[in-house]
Amino acid sequence: MSKRIGVLTGGGDTSALNATLKGVALRAEELGYELIGFMQGWAGVLTGGSYCRLSPDLIDSDRGGTVLQSSRTNLRSSNKLGEAIQNLKKLKIDALIPIGGDDTLSVGSALSEHFTTTFVTKTIDNDVGINCPEGSTVDYTQIVNYFCPGFPSAANLVAKYSRDVQTTAYSHNRIIFVEAMGRYAGWLTLSAAYGNADLILIPEMPYDPDKMAEIIEAKYIDQGHLVVAVSEVISDTDGNLITESAELDSFGHARPGGCSEVIAEQMKTRLPNLPSTAFRHQILAYMQRCGSPIQIDRDMAIKAGKLAVSAIQNGQVNHVATIMRTDEGIIPKLLPLEVVLKWGEDGHVIRRSLDARFYDAENFSISPAGVGYFRAIFGDPPKAYTSPSLKILTI
Ligand code: F6P
Repeated sequence: MSKRIGVLTGGGDTSALNATLKGVALRAEELGYELIGFMQGWAGVLTGGSYCRLSPDLIDSDRGGTVLQSSRTNLRSSNKLGEAIQNLKKLKIDALIPIGGDDTLSVGSALSEHFTTTFVTKTIDNDVGINCPEGSTVDYTQIVNYFCPGFPSAANLVAKYSRDVQTTAYSHNRIIFVEAMGRYAGWLTLSAAYGNADLILIPEMPYDPDKMAEIIEAKYIDQGHLVVAVSEVISDTDGNLITESAELDSFGHARPGGCSEVIAEQMKTRLPNLPSTAFRHQILAYMQRCGSPIQIDRDMAIKAGKLAVSAIQNGQVNHVATIMRTDEGIIPKLLPLEVVLKWGEDGHVIRRSLDARFYDAENFSISPAGVGYFRAIFGDPPKAYTSPSLKILTI
């Protein structure tokens, strides 16, 4: 039976959103379903919003961003769920595929009583899913949603820039604080380990400036230059965020960012013996979220998009096309929403923080289990960057 499917992309863009849309469009075409793309996330389903007919030829899976554009419109907080339902019914939508992070998915689940709704995750933060059960051993096949489409491409860029900037750090004897996104989850920042960052500071780990100054000084004296990956959100040992913006999005989230500059300044003040010109910071911002997806990301996103349409064909409501690691490799898998998202008592979705076992808190670095996680995405970690051993003489 023919169906009319609505699809939309919400939240921050990623490199793999068009790939997911491509998968959705390919499978919809195969099944003879009509595909309606709503523009700018949930804003597209509201009165005054816009939509288009979507077909595979209109989507380039190698192009980053989203052909449907995106927004952080929240139907729930603006009390517009009723209006959205009315409009979707008016357009004779049978089924919905919201593609997004925790916010987009939680709003989408509120519509599932009215439409066959399945989801595909996306977020460079990699915080939608559940870590594998606690214990000393890590069973990677138990991680619910091994990665969110979009994360591998962004992680690849964070690793690339952390690696590339080492040549500048070396050339000018600098300590460069490279700031990665990820809000309250350190997954993306940890990927700087694949760029051989010397130190990695994540949101889950409180930051003690005095201790950090000691470590940086010792490493600087030893190496003469340093790359420190810093998450956009870091909290001090009292649990206070060291940067917080007054700007809130419609989900009530503060806009994070700026930690690299604050930390660089704090280190400069604490280390007056080091040249003040050594301290620099670099915010990666959208440079880590843009451009083409890497192959594993693109391929998995296409497959997840196809799976979401198959779920609709089978009438599976409130399911998520996740990415799972199995003994045979990484594959998409359909799971019930409640297995993928957990809600806290305050009614908000609990984000997946970086699995603590993947971080080496002693050395501000990646742990062997963390390498095991990234190896499935990127292969073996790169060899450490070594400076040439010049025989330097004094005049
Ligand atoms: O949610 C994804 C994300 O890229 C976060 O990592 C980051 O904090 C935020 O979006 C940035 O938001 P904006 O796109 O509004 O600058």
